[in-house]
Amino acid sequence: MLVDVKQKPVTGLQGYRAKILHFPQRSLSPKNDYCYFDDGLLVTHNGKIAFIGDYKNNINQYDKLDLHDYSGKLLLPGFIDSHMHFPQTEMLASFGEQLLDWLTDYTFPTEHKFVDYTYAQAMADVFLRQLFRHGTTSAMIYSSVHKGAADALFKAAQKNNMLLMAGKVCMDRNCPDWLQDCPQTAQRESAELINAWHGKDRLHYVITPRFAPTSSEAQLAALGELAQQYPSVFIQSHLSENHDEIAWVKSLYPKHKHYLDVYDHFGLVRKGAVFGHAIHLETDEWQCLAERGASIAFCPTSNLFLGSGLFNLAKAEQHNIPVMLATDVGGGTSFSMLKTLGEAYKVCQLQGNQLDPMHGLYLMTQGAALGLGLEEHIGNLNPGTDADFVILDPEFDELTQLRFKHHNSPQDLIFALSILGDDRATLATYIAGKPVYQADRQQP
Ligand code: GUN
Ligand code: ZN
Repeated sequence: MLVDVKQKPVTGLQGYRAKILHFPQRSLSPKNDYCYFDDGLLVTHNGKIAFIGDYKNNINQYDKLDLHDYSGKLLLPGFIDSHMHFPQTEMLASFGEQLLDWLTDYTFPTEHKFVDYTYAQAMADVFLRQLFRHGTTSAMIYSSVHKGAADALFKAAQKNNMLLMAGKVCMDRNCPDWLQDCPQTAQRESAELINAWHGKDRLHYVITPRFAPTSSEAQLAALGELAQQYPSVFIQSHLSENHDEIAWVKSLYPKHKHYLDVYDHFGLVRKGAVFGHAIHLETDEWQCLAERGASIAFCPTSNLFLGSGLFNLAKAEQHNIPVMLATDVGGGTSFSMLKTLGEAYKVCQLQGNQLDPMHGLYLMTQGAALGLGLEEHIGNLNPGTDADFVILDPEFDELTQLRFKHHNSPQDLIFALSILGDDRATLATYIAGKPVYQADRQQP
């Protein structure tokens, strides 16, 4: 159910009573640096967070408060998904291929449908409904190569007052003719989209070369020029996901030191650039990402599903590279950031590391916001930030009721939710203080 925010005016002070958990600051040790109220109060006003604290000690200071009683439920900052493909929503769970065949057999034919604006509009609504029912309130998104599809997505996000980062995919070779742009149209249409949407309400533009194999040097040069012209826009692409892909990049760009050097040469590696996957990096590539202040989107369900490999989170953090969790729908297998966290835990386990659940939660809230430079707006529940948050019901079925009877710590709650939870755990999702999703079962 997508609540029509226009029909439900939210005025005055709104209070939410719940267990409340977030990371108020930058942290080198998220395992310890969280802030938790077992019986907490969050107050919002005009789409912003006005107060966060303990319920019993603070409720009396409010005479007029519209109180939503979610006692015993868990209130978290809205999740941030830092890498996903909006036109791939309908092709989740397509069988049996590794990256390059999967692109040819499933992805390109599906993305072709987005040449039709009406189709893109309808799919943008489906896509956002999926985000909201999974508690995701912000995302960094690849649209298709068609300018109209990106327009449709931005319009749908604007209608919901959502902080969304998105870009038109640019690709001018090594993909079907009917999906190609060219250096000039990629630059011109991206610039038109920047002028139409970047900085409008809560929207941000992302310059989006799909990946090095599908862009000519001329196209990367044109996009590098654009990035220089618009220093505040984000950049996204794929990097070192699959061994065949890396060998292909080496053959297409033989003069470059390594895969990342291709992007770096054209000025596409900087703060605000987010590279998906980064699984098989060479030593110099780790260093280059760190020096430039670029970030990595860690996409565990996709990396397992496409057989791409195991991302080395510990190594990224040794290099102080910001890492953000992401679903990579539709290479990824779920819209759920909770499930994504559970799979990230397993990817780390296979490398002999244990991802603490609080650390994982940080990578999909405050850590992601910090990597994107958006921590004044999203990722935490500090007063003054935008009121984007999710309310989870940990005990959403018989099994979880049994499991949580004896839980005694927020770590245990988050961990078990990451293994057992999904959209069934979402009770409500709020964007800028307004509900965009409410589960049918309870509406306080
Ligand atoms: N590399 C280039 N395009 C894609 C894509 O759509 N998904 C994934 N996972 N990797 C890519
Ligand atoms: Zn991707």
